[in-house]
Amino acid sequence: MSKKIGDVILDIKNISLRFGGVKALTDISFNVKEHEIRAIIGPNGAGKSSMLNCINGVYTPSEGAISFRGQTFAHMNSRQVAEMGVARTFQNLALFKGMSVIDNIMTGRNLQIKSNLLLQALRLGPAQREEIQQREFVERIIDFLEIQAFRKTPVGQLPYGLQKRVDLGRALAMEPKVLLLDEPMAGMNVEEKQDMCRFILDVNDEFGTTIVLIEHDMGVVMDISDRVVVLDYGKKIGDGTPEEVRNNEDVIRAYLGAGH
Ligand SMILES: Nc1ncnc2c1ncn2[C@@H]1O[C@H](COP(=O)(O)OP(=O)(O)OP(=O)(O)O)[C@@H](O)[C@H]1O
Ligand SMILES: [Mg+2]
Repeated sequence: MSKKIGDVILDIKNISLRFGGVKALTDISFNVKEHEIRAIIGPNGAGKSSMLNCINGVYTPSEGAISFRGQTFAHMNSRQVAEMGVARTFQNLALFKGMSVIDNIMTGRNLQIKSNLLLQALRLGPAQREEIQQREFVERIIDFLEIQAFRKTPVGQLPYGLQKRVDLGRALAMEPKVLLLDEPMAGMNVEEKQDMCRFILDVNDEFGTTIVLIEHDMGVVMDISDRVVVLDYGKKIGDGTPEEVRNNEDVIRAYLGAGH
């Protein structure tokens, strides 16, 4: 059964980004449709992470605009973007190494925690109930990601592949509409990559989450993405189905040139 792709959920229009003299992104436009797995690929330094950082409000583009579900924003901070329903994982893990798996994933629930802080501090009725609900939600994510055995383990003691999985759990705890994944399989062995692929597909399938994925492993990209954007030196050189992109001569040249 082929899956149902919806309307445009994220529309990136003419985005440019500069760091001093470096043009990290030049006039990039592409869209992401609801329920899609959209890959962003390209050689090192192509501007992939910078693109994600523009989408989630870490960087403000010097030109262009991004619309999320028809709402256009030019200056939005990461918290505002998160509140709209966009979560991300990081190329370099941003977990609290000394904290347990459960507590790390709980940090993803911060936006959902509504009881006032004083009540929470005093551990009175509603706050306590809220904490229990949040914990139950986190436990469901832990089951989903099959990391029950490590619930109480400090994240820093886990192998790298599992740390990446916990980072995914933290992002999932935000119940995002759109999930931005920056190299979720980097540094993993074959088996860990297969697991991560399965989780990404399951998230997409079971929760209907739209996924934007940066990945260097071409096999993975070709296997799991619906459409692919290709960046090179901050410019878009390809956009289409995996098949179309694979046969695009500019793309082939960029990859050969970069020694991939
Ligand atoms: N905070 C920053 N300050 C200055 N230059 C930056 C900054 N972030 C990125 N750049 C530059 O912008 C360009 C694009 O970098 P970016 O990290 O987006 O590439 P990438 O495609 O994610 O690469 P990689 O595959 O290595 O992760 C590079 O030339 C990089 O040096
Ligand atoms: Mg990067």
